[in-house]
Amino acid sequence: MSQHAQQPASPAPELLETQVAVVGAGPAGLMLAHLLRREGIETMVIEKRDPESIRATHRAGILEAGTVDMLVDSGVAGRVLTEGHEHQGTSLRFEGRSHHIDFQGAVGRSVWLYPQNEVFWDLKEASERDGGTVFWSADEVAVHDVDSDRPGVTFIDSEGAAREIRSRILVGADGSRSVCRKAIPEDVRTDHFTEYPFAWFGILCQAPPSHHELIYTRSEAGFALISQRSGDVQRMYFQCDPAEDPEDWTDEQIWTRLQECVSGPDGFRLKEGPIIEKTVLPFRSYVCEPLRHGSLVLVGDAGHTVPPTGAKGLNLAFCDVRVLAPALVALLRDGAEQPLAGYSAAALERVWKAQNFSYWVTRMLHRSREDSEFDSRRQLGELHAITDSPYGRAYFADSYTGWQS
Ligand code: DHB
Repeated sequence: MSQHAQQPASPAPELLETQVAVVGAGPAGLMLAHLLRREGIETMVIEKRDPESIRATHRAGILEAGTVDMLVDSGVAGRVLTEGHEHQGTSLRFEGRSHHIDFQGAVGRSVWLYPQNEVFWDLKEASERDGGTVFWSADEVAVHDVDSDRPGVTFIDSEGAAREIRSRILVGADGSRSVCRKAIPEDVRTDHFTEYPFAWFGILCQAPPSHHELIYTRSEAGFALISQRSGDVQRMYFQCDPAEDPEDWTDEQIWTRLQECVSGPDGFRLKEGPIIEKTVLPFRSYVCEPLRHGSLVLVGDAGHTVPPTGAKGLNLAFCDVRVLAPALVALLRDGAEQPLAGYSAAALERVWKAQNFSYWVTRMLHRSREDSEFDSRRQLGELHAITDSPYGRAYFADSYTGWQS
């Protein structure tokens, strides 16, 4: 809904000029703007929401080592190293037993538990510190002339004034409901997607951690993920119907389901406490091809979304940015078009690897109503093939921690 519907927009929008206009101030958009600013490339970022509401939206919490390196090496912040938690492995739990996957032992890499909303906040602070331009709470954002070398974005700013930004490159970093993506004509764009018959029921609870690493569990009651946020707040998920209403679930019912998902002969139990947030999170797999059309380039969820199992979303967005930033510098500083011409194919190679991993892990751990006994036994065979062999564990660890090639 328009936040500024009552205020008349001025008929002639105030015109601003920059080199790169970025629609969306999530982690992908802010990281790109940060890297470009460091190279002396001028950027302006336009965002529909306000920073506090973005920070309050809970997202996944696992960062690949490459993502952590980008935050630290580019000078965004070191808070991830002091407040985040290094996880050297994870557990796959099935048939009521936990099977440890030692990432360090298998591939020599760790991941970090550091919530995405804190990544966002660090990037927002870096932008303010470095004098970055972000128009928060922008309304009626629309893009045009993406086929030309002077694309435009129009919007109503937080004061109710109509504005237009003209740039050389327009970047769509505006999430899975991207308006930028729709500017790629339908005869050029292919939308690849697949749906899943389940969603995640996510909770935050006040309780001590039940384990020092994450537990991904497959049980007769379905999938559950046991994650953490701090010493006294935990994040957990269990699979549910996409049409589920979180308000229909009492704390007691939620704890019964979660305990059922993790229970086993080893007697493992979750530490319970008051549930302070509950949300149903539907998901799907989606890839837009190509990720670039004319002067418009898509990064992160605007170009592709993955199911949450395996926490690839933010990491993949940062991989896009890692390819795109030098390509834009080459174009805008040296006039070299080739790197940008290769962006879509280069980024999509990793996107499809991550699509495969997220799809595979989702299918391997979730139960479907239609599953036959054969399906169920085959799924357990697949899990054993991963956990019982050093090669299986190395395959999982290599994918989970982020491929180096
Ligand atoms: C979290 C979310 C995920 O989807 C995942 O795979 C791992 C961790 C989390 O919210 O902590």
